[in-house]
Amino acid sequence: RPRYTGLIAKYKDRLPVKDDTRLISLGEGNTPLIKLNNIARELGQDCDIYVKFEGLNPTGSFKDRGMTMAVTKAVEEGSRAIICASTGNTSASAAAYAARAGIKAFVLIPEGKIAMGKLAQAIMHGAEVIQIQGNFDEGMRLVKEVAGEAPVTIVNSINPFRLQGQKTAAFEIVEELERAPDYHCLPVGNAGNITAHWIGYSEYAGVDTAANNYSQGHSRFASAIVGTRPKMIGYQAAGSAPFIRGAMVDNPETVATAIRIGHPQSWDYAWKAQEESGGWFDECSDEEILATQRLLAQKEGVFCEPASATSLAGALRDIKNGKIPEGSTVVCTLTGHGLKDPDIVIQQAGAPIKPVEATLDAVKSAILGRL
Ligand code: F0G
Repeated sequence: RPRYTGLIAKYKDRLPVKDDTRLISLGEGNTPLIKLNNIARELGQDCDIYVKFEGLNPTGSFKDRGMTMAVTKAVEEGSRAIICASTGNTSASAAAYAARAGIKAFVLIPEGKIAMGKLAQAIMHGAEVIQIQGNFDEGMRLVKEVAGEAPVTIVNSINPFRLQGQKTAAFEIVEELERAPDYHCLPVGNAGNITAHWIGYSEYAGVDTAANNYSQGHSRFASAIVGTRPKMIGYQAAGSAPFIRGAMVDNPETVATAIRIGHPQSWDYAWKAQEESGGWFDECSDEEILATQRLLAQKEGVFCEPASATSLAGALRDIKNGKIPEGSTVVCTLTGHGLKDPDIVIQQAGAPIKPVEATLDAVKSAILGRL
């Protein structure tokens, strides 16, 4: 059995690479699809709920799927520097893959609104960190402008190769379930990932989509093992929910800083995915997001970052209210690892943990008092 060496190697014939393309990879992809046991049982509905834990990618988020493709192509095209605007995860991923490729990464991040783990990653991998006095949307605008005036390749999801890499998450799910799920739930920020999943499912089902032509997917599965695609459901944080408002949001706010985005770049394609699939968009409050993050950590042992919990928060609500019917197979993408944002956990923990004396008596009474 060949060693797993990343998603481009695995899906070479589905991705825009040549036989001699130098692959820039950290072994991304191949993430676990975890079936929820305890949460599903307590819910009392007979849905099969799975979480695709993308936090287990090399830099701790789904961005690595897109970044391996984007940086591979940037290097193939002779680029010496990449650039992105980011709420954190894209910058961490860009920094790591640039380091791997031996090129430079410039990352624009919103001042004070990025989780500590993500900033640490960008710094540690040697990216040039440019902190702007503005939000992600302003950073995105600046990146597009500056890329016209400096020799840098944009690796945000407006880079079509990003979506090509990210579509492989849908392939993995179909292969593991041996069918497409009935519903696929994602947190939506810039809306690249929901677009990429729709491309992936459509490709697997042998159906063309506008987004796939755009993002240069050049092959479809020769024999589609399934003809069906899931309904795509996009959940947004209530303070950053342009898809629910039906219009761009100028001052997005949410505790889920990863999806603090008001002007999504893949606006049209995300709407198409929702319409073509018969899915919907909805919003979750910050309280619901944090409660679901905790529920997942405490009931299933899975620690995702706040933005990621948005998909499950929405899914659990829609299963309860019957919008997602009994008997459905539901996949929720957990986009990033909980360790990215330790501050949010510590902030909510309340009183600091009191030390006890380092004696058997003190430890014993601490245990007996809490059993
Ligand atoms: N979840 C996490 C953890 C993210 O980091 C992002 C996006 C999303 C969900 C939303 O995905 O943008 O494809 O709709 N983070 C970007 C970044 C914007 O800069 O790291 P999307």
